[in-house]
Amino acid sequence: MTAQELREKFLKFFESKGHAIIPSASLVPRETDASVLFTTAGMHPLVPYLLGEKHPGGTRVANVQKCVRTGDIDDVGDNRHNTFFEMLGNWSFGDYFKKEAIVWSFEFLTGKEWLGLDPQRIYVTVFEGEDNIPRDEEAIKIWKETFAKAGMEVSVAGKDGIIKDNIRIIPLGSDDNFWIAGATGPCGGDTEMFYDTRPVEGKIDGQKFSDLVDSFRLIEIWNDVFMEFEKKADGSVEKLAQQNVDTGMGVERTLAVLNGKENVFETELFQQLFAKISEISGKDYEGNEKSFRIIADHIKASTFMIADGVEPSNVQRGYVLRRIIRRAIRHGKQLGVENNFTKNISEAVVRIYKDFYQELENNKNKIFAELEKEENKFRETLEKGLKEFNKIAAKNISGKEAFDLYQTYGFPFEITKELADEKGLQVDEKGFQEELQKHQELSRTASAGAFKGGLQSQDEQTARLHTATHLLQAALREILGPHVYQKGSNITPERLRFDFSHHEKMTPEQIQKAEELVNEKIRENIPVVCEEMTVVEAKEKGALGVFESKYGEKVKVYSAGEFSKEICGGPHAGNTGELGYFKIKKEEASSAGVRRIKAVLE
Ligand code: ALA
Repeated sequence: MTAQELREKFLKFFESKGHAIIPSASLVPRETDASVLFTTAGMHPLVPYLLGEKHPGGTRVANVQKCVRTGDIDDVGDNRHNTFFEMLGNWSFGDYFKKEAIVWSFEFLTGKEWLGLDPQRIYVTVFEGEDNIPRDEEAIKIWKETFAKAGMEVSVAGKDGIIKDNIRIIPLGSDDNFWIAGATGPCGGDTEMFYDTRPVEGKIDGQKFSDLVDSFRLIEIWNDVFMEFEKKADGSVEKLAQQNVDTGMGVERTLAVLNGKENVFETELFQQLFAKISEISGKDYEGNEKSFRIIADHIKASTFMIADGVEPSNVQRGYVLRRIIRRAIRHGKQLGVENNFTKNISEAVVRIYKDFYQELENNKNKIFAELEKEENKFRETLEKGLKEFNKIAAKNISGKEAFDLYQTYGFPFEITKELADEKGLQVDEKGFQEELQKHQELSRTASAGAFKGGLQSQDEQTARLHTATHLLQAALREILGPHVYQKGSNITPERLRFDFSHHEKMTPEQIQKAEELVNEKIRENIPVVCEEMTVVEAKEKGALGVFESKYGEKVKVYSAGEFSKEICGGPHAGNTGELGYFKIKKEEASSAGVRRIKAVLE
């Protein structure tokens, strides 16, 4: 089965069970969500709906979500970790609960017209209960009934987790079977489905479940989370008003299992990339697995990140991107590649994924240009940096030395650490952090005057800038014409950035006019009103925004009088008068036919 067949089957199955199929959300979380740098699971963009907000697609949705998990970066190269992966998911927002979730999971896994997996090779875990939450007897009962329908009478493992006789259900504690996306938010016990990848080793009888997982004989392919709680910032866990289902099935792993492959790197999603790396480096995958895997995974993740608007930098998301591009380049060098190559790998990524993720094709020039730029920058110093490293690598690396490698040669700390690890040396991470902080304090003092509005909370400032973005779009359409549409938007507590369709540089007069028009609307003290309506109604009322949603359900439309009307998730200021003084700081080209404005509220 190909990845595309798997995605299509999954979506078709859940569509047949009344689910609205929604697109993958961006890898960059909502502006108002500061809890993660990247979308880490299919449920992440859906948190507001798990907490009770109405989803435009209704109470049942399913999708394929692109995800990035950055906690695993240093583990990429072993046989199962990836930073980028795709997750198939189905959700119930206060609609169905355990019964349907489990029955449908089993039907999709084993049904002949679906994945057709052998029920005799499936094992499941359930929540054993902990912290006043009891063992999930309901899930156990449903699993027993579900296996019985497939002609299998199954029983539950004891505390020792040993699988013998007809044991198929293994209860585990909250470390394994309680799911939450971060520190706080919707959460609940779960049931996970595992597949026996090596039945040739004989019937599982008398072995410990955890040992079978550690040896990769049992591979987890699907997780059904029963989200009925919310964990608060103070650590308390409260019952939610609605009972939800959140499921996640890894595309890469499932594909490996379906095709009898030992690990995800043997699937088509990696093989074509390995072929490219081999062609470029003249080296074989065998014997160079680690570097091949790192290059393939990291350039794939970078390609998707840039398509979603991330650019290499020294902070936050941009730093993660920089770090993985540079790590891939370093491993390319290890394979003997001396010329730029990341773009060529990225071209292969776009080819493999573009049919499902059109944003790759749409943004490919930008993706290749960013990679090329970053590679040029890093290659300038890579050689010298490696020489310098080898000079100091006779002993453990001090914090100051690691900082110099970072500052002078652009080596992210993790690259220095990896190089040191390869030689069995230590790096003083604490010392490095101290040097970094000293340096940052210096540059912060230098630009201290630039930070205003210190008394406002970041959230309020973000909401104001969000409203300013709407006013700016309306002003630009009035001044430049109705061909102007939002192509991208990014807000930090300090500024807004707005990308829009327009073919030429704005004149200083046009910039001044846009500023004046926005400030005029601010002075008019217009209330910002939010209404829920169907997409059709929103369109009829002339609202701007994305009309892709096919489902007649509600969207939010924010208006500032007749001047601005946009479909948008919010949040916004209550009144334009709260915005202060609007100032455009920069107008520049973003990409072909797209201009970019950076502006602030003073
Ligand atoms: N959110 C759950 C997971 O990522 C389904 O495993």
